[in-house]
Amino acid sequence: MKKIAIVTGASGGIGQVFVRELAKEALDEIWVVGRNENRLLGLKKEFGAKIIPVCKDLTVTADLFSFSDLLKQQHPSVLWFVNNAGIAKMAPSKAFSISEIEQTIDLNCKAPAALINLCLPFMIKGTKILNVSSASAFQPVPYLNLYAASKAFERSYSRALHIELMPYGITVTAVCPGWVETDMLTKEINGKKVRFPGIVAPEKVVKKALKDAKKGRDLSICSFYVKCQHINVKLLPQKLTMKIWMRSIRSYL
Ligand SMILES: NC(=O)c1ccc[n+]([C@@H]2O[C@H](COP(=O)([O-])OP(=O)(O)OC[C@H]3O[C@@H](n4cnc5c(N)ncnc54)[C@H](OP(=O)(O)O)[C@@H]3O)[C@@H](O)[C@H]2O)c1
Repeated sequence: MKKIAIVTGASGGIGQVFVRELAKEALDEIWVVGRNENRLLGLKKEFGAKIIPVCKDLTVTADLFSFSDLLKQQHPSVLWFVNNAGIAKMAPSKAFSISEIEQTIDLNCKAPAALINLCLPFMIKGTKILNVSSASAFQPVPYLNLYAASKAFERSYSRALHIELMPYGITVTAVCPGWVETDMLTKEINGKKVRFPGIVAPEKVVKKALKDAKKGRDLSICSFYVKCQHINVKLLPQKLTMKIWMRSIRSYL
């Protein structure tokens, strides 16, 4: 049975680095999932024949089922499963259309939960699931409200699932980076260049996440800056942490 890794959102900043690092592991194939076929084919050119592009829109239920059909057809052993695809819109909650609300919840919440269930029959003792959540999952975040709430779902879901899958030797790691240098970030708001305190390169997030997953940890935090944030939100009332956040973004509003 072939041993594979699956990476969703593989063509983006963090996902691409996951592919690069997993290409160093003893795997027969890496299934790279996303909508943009050209970018997925680019990964095959870069990392070789073991890359298998799987072009899917993970907000579409029919695509989730056709992904499941592919698994049933190929019957691989899934050793690594990286739920990384995600979208973010930094805007007041009132600026979201119903379709944008649906897309965010479908991609950031529904897809990871559904994909894990579809992949579970193909996972074995030692399989590692990584769910890319965010430091924004630690507290409610005004003006990043829907995204942060969706990431809180992902973090909470991961940590509980880690306990549920423990008897099967499968671990689940919630990866919670702060700002990461990728195309996801809005670089300018109202003509003002946005500052991202504590920003890190995707390589730092991915290397720490894989190390933590190998150690069987249920949470991965890659920088001192986010570790401090994590401690603060445990010690301070949420009203205060939201106030501190609001002060940090007031010049963009
Ligand atoms: N950047 C940050 O500051 C930051 C911080 C914390 C957490 N994160 C999380 O890290 C993860 C990766 O983000 P990133 O920064 O690398 O963002 P990115 O560069 O925008 O990449 C997002 C990836 O998601 C895929 N994607 C988007 N919509 C999709 C859909 N409907 N179906 C399937 N794939 C879809 C995109 O591929 P296609 O366009 O080809 O579909 C792309 O590969 C996300 O979950 C994000 O929430 C990011």
